[in-house]
Amino acid sequence: MFGEEAYIAPPSVSISENEYRLRQQTLFKQLNENDLLIIVCNPESARSGDVEYPYRNNSDMLYLCGWKDPSSVLIASNSNGGWKTVLFVQPRNILMEIWHGRRPGIEGAEEFWPIDEAHSIDELQERLAAMLDECTRVLHRTGSNAVVDSMVNSAFESKSRARQLLGKGPISIEDPSGRIAEMRLRKSPTEIELMRHASKVSSRAHIETMRSAKPGVGEWQLQAIIEGCFMWNGQSWAYPSIVGYGENATILHYHANNAVCDGDGIVLIDAGSEYEGYAADITRSWPISGEFTEPQKAIYQVVLDAQKAAIAACVVGAAYNEPHFTARRVLAEGLIKLGIIEESLDEALADDGELNKWYMHNTGHWIGLDVHDVGIYRPNGEPRVLEAGMVITVEPGLYFGAWRDDVEVSEKWAGIGIRIEDDVLVTAEGPDVLTADCPKEIGDLEALIGCAD
Ligand code: GLY
Ligand code: MN
Ligand code: MN
Repeated sequence: MFGEEAYIAPPSVSISENEYRLRQQTLFKQLNENDLLIIVCNPESARSGDVEYPYRNNSDMLYLCGWKDPSSVLIASNSNGGWKTVLFVQPRNILMEIWHGRRPGIEGAEEFWPIDEAHSIDELQERLAAMLDECTRVLHRTGSNAVVDSMVNSAFESKSRARQLLGKGPISIEDPSGRIAEMRLRKSPTEIELMRHASKVSSRAHIETMRSAKPGVGEWQLQAIIEGCFMWNGQSWAYPSIVGYGENATILHYHANNAVCDGDGIVLIDAGSEYEGYAADITRSWPISGEFTEPQKAIYQVVLDAQKAAIAACVVGAAYNEPHFTARRVLAEGLIKLGIIEESLDEALADDGELNKWYMHNTGHWIGLDVHDVGIYRPNGEPRVLEAGMVITVEPGLYFGAWRDDVEVSEKWAGIGIRIEDDVLVTAEGPDVLTADCPKEIGDLEALIGCAD
């Protein structure tokens, strides 16, 4: 059971109908009159037998109309100079609803969602064929729903054959996701509020976990606290939680979460929740004993210095990879000072330099409706320049896995894995750390760990 502070009231804002309509219109303005835009849902996916994974719709569908139900397709077309959105949905079905839950259905979609018309998904094939007659370019991203892909492809093939006879019909299929990604990359004030809430809840969940941690606890039990706190706040995880103790903290995407934290090692938890589709992504690393050993403290301080310097580099006008270069430089300087790297700074930072042995990933990624959010990092081959409204993670780390056979790790540093990750909104006034409620200073962590007793 969590205390009162563990519940954080959700914001009063949500994405309005106006905002959805504005997103749609912004996209339509980039299209041609004879385009047909198709946005498909993710398919439901079997876990085993007749049990399915919890369903989450495709982020482009969420972005354009907020529709969460499975078996849905959004189609937009232009007629008489105006764009019309048609949503194909699962129709109401009392028997299915008794078993699996209420459905908005066709009537609900038309009344409460920002679309112009709704039909049963059972009519998709027939209506799609008619819509294809009237378009010249189909905008459809293949690869996320094989059933809809095959429907679109076969309709396209037969219609483009008929084009020879009728003189009209589709000529090409193009992927529209790059255009939508470009829009999703810049967050609106409401999106930022939703992300801030996910970040606050995730920060609180990390704090609750640190407070309850004790030597002898299982990684899975720490996972239960952190995810329990997400659920306490009505949220779910944005990606499977990583809870690694000791050597497991040196495995970047460790997911087994089944070891006991039974010594004086570091616990690395990379976990974040999702609110209204928007993700938070936080990593904290701290000693299960409640006190950093001297080697742990030394490595932690290097990573923390690198992270703070990288956050300071998240400013309007900087290249998206400036925080990465900054973090790498501070990490290399720190490791040289500790005698772990015996090369010069330039050598350590080179492609074949020693830093890569201990720091082998990038320093951040866009975050939004997807934890690894969309947005081209190098448009036209040049590094993206940061703009106000972009949100990026900053997550340097150092990993000294003694289990590895590609490096020699001295006993002093063996088994230390540290990553510190925050989510940073770029603003005209400078970096705004959405996850700032989650402590990361050594003293603050030591004061929190195990303090729930
Ligand atoms: N949680 C995955 C990542 O940090 O990218
Ligand atoms: Mn991340
Ligand atoms: Mn992460």
